[in-house]
Parts: sequence; structure tokens; C-alpha cells
Amino acid sequence: MCGIVGYIGNKDAREIILNGLEKLEYRGYDSAGITLRNNTADTFNVYKDKGRIAHLKSIVDYSYDSGLGIGHTRWATHGIPNYANSHPHYSKDSRFFIVHNGVIENYKELIATYLQGSVFASDTDTEVIAHLIERFSAKMSVSEAIRKTMSLLEGSYALAIIDRDNPHKMYAAKNKSPLLIGLSDHGIIVASDVMACVGYAKEYIPLDDKSFVEVDGASYKIKDIIGKPMEHDVKEIDIDASNIEKGEYAHFMLKEINEQPGVIRNILQRYFKDGKVTLNGPIKEALQETDRIYIIAAGTSMNAGFVGKQIFEKMANIPTEVHIASEFAYNMPLLTKNPLFIFISQSGETADLRAVLVNIKAKGYRSLTITNVKTSTLAREADHFVEIMAGPEIAVASTKAYTAQIAILGILAYGLSDGHINLYKELSRVAISMENIIDKREYIESLVKDYLTKRNCFYIGRGIDYYTCLEASLKLKEISYIQTEGFAAGELKHGTIALIEDNTPVIAIISQRDISKNTRSNLYEVKSRGAHTLVISTKSVHDQDDQIIVDDVHELFSPMLTVIPSQLIAYYAALARGNDIDKPRNLAKSVTVE
Ligand code: AGP
Ligand code: GLU
Repeated sequence: MCGIVGYIGNKDAREIILNGLEKLEYRGYDSAGITLRNNTADTFNVYKDKGRIAHLKSIVDYSYDSGLGIGHTRWATHGIPNYANSHPHYSKDSRFFIVHNGVIENYKELIATYLQGSVFASDTDTEVIAHLIERFSAKMSVSEAIRKTMSLLEGSYALAIIDRDNPHKMYAAKNKSPLLIGLSDHGIIVASDVMACVGYAKEYIPLDDKSFVEVDGASYKIKDIIGKPMEHDVKEIDIDASNIEKGEYAHFMLKEINEQPGVIRNILQRYFKDGKVTLNGPIKEALQETDRIYIIAAGTSMNAGFVGKQIFEKMANIPTEVHIASEFAYNMPLLTKNPLFIFISQSGETADLRAVLVNIKAKGYRSLTITNVKTSTLAREADHFVEIMAGPEIAVASTKAYTAQIAILGILAYGLSDGHINLYKELSRVAISMENIIDKREYIESLVKDYLTKRNCFYIGRGIDYYTCLEASLKLKEISYIQTEGFAAGELKHGTIALIEDNTPVIAIISQRDISKNTRSNLYEVKSRGAHTLVISTKSVHDQDDQIIVDDVHELFSPMLTVIPSQLIAYYAALARGNDIDKPRNLAKSVTVE
């Protein structure tokens, strides 16, 4: 969600910050802004507005040298997206400039206690931070003023701060929202995502909660809230810049759909040796010892979790529950004696999951994160983590992470299975069959053209196909804005069938032998009420009128195939509508607020 990039050093701060913010664009935002120091005049200039980085670039002044600045992309939580609410915000006397990601839950109380009578330029919760620092700095050093402010803030924050009166310094602070510092021989970067440092820094330091950073020229100090030095790890940035470019593709989403067979092959290479899974001992042990798995996730990752439940129960005989992270965090069900919590998260930063992780860790339960970002908060804080090896996923609508997550869930369960499935062979077949579907993408585009013309659409399926329907419908609604529901085919007749009218699109997913006939009956029911149907089926259960037929693989892994036509359907429906496919409205790639 949103982004922060700050820089102090010998290079052009303007270029590093604007480029960095562009690399974070995929995370979703509605406004952008930057404060830059004019090195010669020793003045600070603020440029900000609602809208894209391209717009910000067009309003920035390029006529002076700048070696210090902070930039921001905002995903509004308090106050509409407009000029006044865009960051950077500044204190009353314009001494402190700040950018903030997160939510200050007690900002109203802080105003009432410390800032009565202050005039605010924005409706944000953020501005209060700048006013507090200014107020406290009248009686203490700036570092102390920032740390005192931190001690009063409730909620989440990643902050980059500039003090007009000390232009050789930059400050940063973090709690719950992600923040790191990038290290290079030309200067220091403060960023909310390591992606922003690619090309400008070779190493970085992920910051822990409640850390405060004081950057003084080329040196930095990391302290806790009372000013005690904090330990930290320096990590290498090993992201390949070419992985975060679109290349020949019109959109990242199409690129990422196409990358899926390659991702599955990478996973096989990484996690198999001589046909056997190479997962480390403690993870296997955790799975062996648990009496129930609790999968905690959101959105697409949760949809992968539903498939995971089937996989764990049918392959490894472990009872498994799937929970919406934001619900579980504040409404924990009764747990078994020896639960294992599996957090599935592409980004590894989703705040709803983090809230659960903090909670269950405090109770002493074991945790495992499945993520695409090995440096993420959820990877660092869980007892164990497994990387899904999908490579950077830039499009907000997740595609390759979903299929990679299912493959990893299969690999975790495989270690405990009786071996009746040859998983290496199955997943290799999945990769080939994915290619067969992707090769037919023009045909799928032609199907979509005159099909998805209504305001709404349904995906129906049974068993594991129902879970694919949930993911298929999420994909379609996210980027085409067509109101789409994924429905258990047999449940439709219990009410929702009332919404079916002439030409309502209903897409059925049919891959399970034992229940394919039942789904077909449900399809007839909607057809007789006027629905315009389309069927995605597998070879062994297909009917001659089905429009999209995919290869047969083991039924537990069929979602990795049947989901692909639905990703392409969503892509082409959004393309036909002229939507911003990679950055759909209102959404963010990494949802770091609860
Ligand atoms: C996927 O297309 C969505 N953008 C969204 O549902 C996403 O899956 C969800 O926010 C969870 O994100 P995570 O996997 O990074 O935790
Ligand atoms: N809560 C702040 C605002 O609404 C920051 C939002 C963000 O993280 O971008 O401005």
C-alpha cells in the first residue's frame, strides 16, 4: 500500500526519489508528493497533488541540484485524495516536513491533549505528527522530539522526516508499516519497499517496529524509542532490475500470467531433489506434530488457502481450517491443543495477517509463513517461512503468486503423504498444460468480447472448483469492475438464482469427476432462466459444447489450470473496458493498514 522514498547523499535526490516512487506505483495510490532541498539556495520546496507520479513529475522543478528529499505515494485513509491531503505535510512554521504510511488511531486524542487551537492544513491523521514534533522540539533535541512523538502515537507508521534547520540530516521511524534503509557509497535511502532501492543501493537494513533512525550525511544510527542503539542486520539486495520491467508485454498482469509455467518449474527445481521434497527438518516436524492447521490469509492468498485445505486434508491427513485474517485477529475460535498457523501472503506485509501473527506468537503457538518476499515482515517474524519463488509480482491483481502458493502447499503436504501422488510429475504436467492454455489466449479474448457486456456475472462450481470460482470472480471484479460472485453451484438455487435474467453471464468450472454431473444440472437450471453460459472444463469431464477445455491433471491441482482461463477472461474484459489493468481503482498491492 502506498510508498515512501527518501534520500540524502551526493546523487540527485529528485531522480532517486521519483524513480523509486515509480517502482512502488504497483502498490496502489491516489496522490503523490515530494519535498526537495535546493542545495544552492538552502530552501525546501514541496510538490504534491492528487494523481499519478507522471503528474508529479510534470510539476517538479528540475532547475536546481538537490541532495536531500522525501517522497510519498498516498493511499488515502483520512481525508479525500486532493492537494491539501497529499503528503509531504509540514509543521506550522514549515520547519518539519514529513511523509507517512499507515494510520494514527489516536490522532484526535493527541490534538485534544497537545494541539488545541492549532490550525491544520489537511484532514489527515498524519499532519498531527508534524505539529507534535515541532511543539516538542522547542524544549528538546529533534531526535528526542521525534521519539517522544513516537511514544504517543497509536497505530501504524512508517515516517521519513526532514528538518529545515538541519539540512544534513534525515530521520525515519517505523511501527507496523514497512520501512527500511538502503545503503550505498553515494548516500542513504529510506524506503517502504526494497524495490525502490533497486539500481541505487546494494544493501539494506529492514527496520523493526518502534525503531528510530537518524541519518547524518553518510552515517546512520538506529535506536529504539528511548534512544538505545538497536541491533540490525544488513542484507543484500538481490532483485534483478529486469524482473520489474514489463518487457514485450502491454501489462504486468499479462506478463505474470505468462510467467506461470516458468514459476512452477523454478519451484520444482528449488524444492525437489531426485524426485523427493527437500524441505528442511523443522518445517516437516511442525507439520508432523500439529493436530490442526489454521490457514490465515486474505483475498487471493486466502483462495489459495482453500485449495490448500483440500490438499492438506486429502494428501497429508491433517485437519485444516481457513480463516479470513481480519476476522480471526479479533474473533479467535476455539483452538486445538497443538495448532500450526500457516500465513499465506504474496507480499508478506498484509497488516491483517500481521495482527494475527503477533497475537498467536504471544500465546506461544507455532507459525509458518508462505510468501513471495523472503525479506518481508511476515517471513521475518514467523518461526518458519517458505518462499514461493514467483519473482516480483507487480500487477495488483495477483496471478502467478496464486498458482505458486498452491504448488507450495502441495509440496508441504507431500512430505507427509503416503506417496500415492507423484507430485513432481503432476506439477511438471501442470506447467506444460498451463502453456497450452496460455497459447490459446487470443481465442479466450475472442470469447470475452461479446460475452461480458452486463453489469454482473457469476462463476459457479462445486468442491475444489468452487474455490477456483472464488478466485476467478475476485480477479474479474478487481480489474473489470463487473460485479461478480463466485458461488457453490448447488447453493445458487437457494436464493441467488433470483438474480439470473436474460443473458446474465454464468461461467461454470468443472474439473471433478464425482460431481461434474451435479454442476451441469445447476448449469441447466440457470440456462432455463435465460443465463448466457460458458464452461471451463477438463478433458475427462468435458462436454462437446464446452468453450474452454483444459488438460487433465490430478484433481487436487486442477485449480492451477482452471484458474488460468479466468485470469485471461478478467484481463481481456478489463482491456476491452479500457481500465487501468495493473493499477485498478481503489486497490493496493500490499495492504499495510488494518
Ligand atoms: C489479489 O488479486 C488482491 N489484490 C488481494 O486480494 C490480495 O490477494 C490480498 O490483499 C492479500 O495480499 P497478500 O497475498 O499480499 O497478503
Ligand atoms: N493515513 C495517512 C493519510 O490518509 C497515510 C495514508 C498512507 O499510508 O498513504 O494520509
